[in-house]
Amino acid sequence: MKHLQRLWAFASILALPYAPSFAATLDCLTGEPTAEEIQSWRQDAALQLEQGLITERGLATQIRTCFGAQVPVCLQKMNDYVTRNDTAPASMDSPVRSSAAKQPPSELFLNGTANFEYKIPEDIEERAATLGWPAVRYKSRHSGGFDRDTSSLLMIHVPGDRVNPPVNYDRWLNFALPEDPEDQAMNPTPASPLPSAADYAAEGRGEVSLPKVFTMVSLDRRLDNKPAQVYFQRFLRNGRGSIAFKPEGNSDPKRCISCHPNGLRAISPLGYHVRKDENMMNEEAWKTVQVINEAMVKAAGQKTVSWRDAPVSASSTQRKNLLNPSAHGPGVGPLAPLNGRSRTVEFINQCAQRRRSIDLRDIFGRAPGRGNVYRLSSRPQIDAAKVLRFMSCGGCHGNASRAPLNTLTDWAQIDFKILVDQSMPLGAHRNPLESNTGNVQDALNADERIALANCLQAEFELEVQEKTAWLTQGTCQ
Ligand code: HEC
Ligand code: HEC
Repeated sequence: MKHLQRLWAFASILALPYAPSFAATLDCLTGEPTAEEIQSWRQDAALQLEQGLITERGLATQIRTCFGAQVPVCLQKMNDYVTRNDTAPASMDSPVRSSAAKQPPSELFLNGTANFEYKIPEDIEERAATLGWPAVRYKSRHSGGFDRDTSSLLMIHVPGDRVNPPVNYDRWLNFALPEDPEDQAMNPTPASPLPSAADYAAEGRGEVSLPKVFTMVSLDRRLDNKPAQVYFQRFLRNGRGSIAFKPEGNSDPKRCISCHPNGLRAISPLGYHVRKDENMMNEEAWKTVQVINEAMVKAAGQKTVSWRDAPVSASSTQRKNLLNPSAHGPGVGPLAPLNGRSRTVEFINQCAQRRRSIDLRDIFGRAPGRGNVYRLSSRPQIDAAKVLRFMSCGGCHGNASRAPLNTLTDWAQIDFKILVDQSMPLGAHRNPLESNTGNVQDALNADERIALANCLQAEFELEVQEKTAWLTQGTCQ
């Protein structure tokens, strides 16, 4: 700060006509800079960025010019921020044919997986059971799956230590199932069988429409201090009677991160996290979902995942990250907000009712999520102090244990976790199978959940304006 102020003062004494461009020089430090000098350089850089005196690209160049490959630790965040879009293109990532982790296990498919074609057998669930791979049928109630005609899904978890020979990566496959009839829409267990050869033939004659996408997320499990590595892949079928699913080109992680901030995304089936009056899944399915979701956290070693890197071009050996999510600015619900005013009862009272109703209906209009609209009661009962206590989502979603939620995150996913499945804030809500009374328990009432979602949003709007403070957090030493 001081450094820049001095420059400005100097410039104004001389009454230079182009003072800003004079002040904009961000000279390199000379000799062996001290920690204080680096910190003050960082402050100048952040202010120049804020005032538009230097561009992000200009600052990236200047950091490289001044510090070379050895960017000081306390400048790393700034460097990551100004280079956040300087990533390797997804097209340069290894494709399915040369990346074992992106290949679904052949045991699950008809005739193996010759030519990277995947034909789903009608007995895929029995196959999974025989192999000891957890599998569960479920219904998405907001945005899971890619077939807009059906909310019914089948998840199969393939633990790396239960394949032969064992591998260090776990795979989670998400298959779409044909939609149930309307009168069964709210039954948590999808009843439709997997399509048979006759069904595909009927599709070929234009009589029915069957699911056309299955997806897989794989994770190289965390080893020592190497973060778990995440892989996304979709497999598509043309429809019109063709049975084989084929890998799509590399999924651009930028298309998946908005709903999958930390790679794998816990599934939240209809009937999993429930309210008092809602039907639960059967106990066996419920427990399988729990096992599968816990395995996602465990494989990541309770830590943030890496979105991996790739060559920057076909002719280059230089590699860059495919995505660096934590470099995208301030996070949602931080432990220590930068705006200096959002953690007061007054603030909560102002933001609690900013959205009187929140619409989280299924993105495809599928039946199980059609009713997801949450309204404040006519006389909202909101304990502001309690809402305040639950605002620090960043304690877990901060970068260390889980990737931050930030501008890359689809806000509906935050609302979803607080309002629809109520799994966040973690531990506040308990399902009958988790509670000591056998009933649903919740530390927050329905109004308070809306207030929490509202206030996190109001706070985040202030936080994103604190970029300078965010870039200069922490002292240099
Ligand atoms: C609009 C939000 C959204 C986007 C974008 C999205 N997903 Fe998902 N995905 C979900 C949700 C939600 C679930 C969990 C299922 C549920 O609860 O409905 C999920 C689950 C999955 C699963 C099962 C494993 C897991 O993490 O639970 C796979 C595989 C998957 N998605 C693949 C992808 C791929 C590949 C992309 C990018 C091409 C992607 N998704 C983009 C919302 C999304
Ligand atoms: C005590 C740790 C903890 C706290 C506090 C916490 N979360 Fe989470 N959050 C998790 C874990 C673990 C998961 C993955 C398991 C799951 O989704 O149920 C998760 C998942 C999520 C996801 C899905 C994206 C992802 O990272 O998988 C969202 C969105 C989310 N939390 C929002 C919130 C919000 C909003 C708050 C604050 C109101 C919050 N969380 C507080 C631990 C926490």
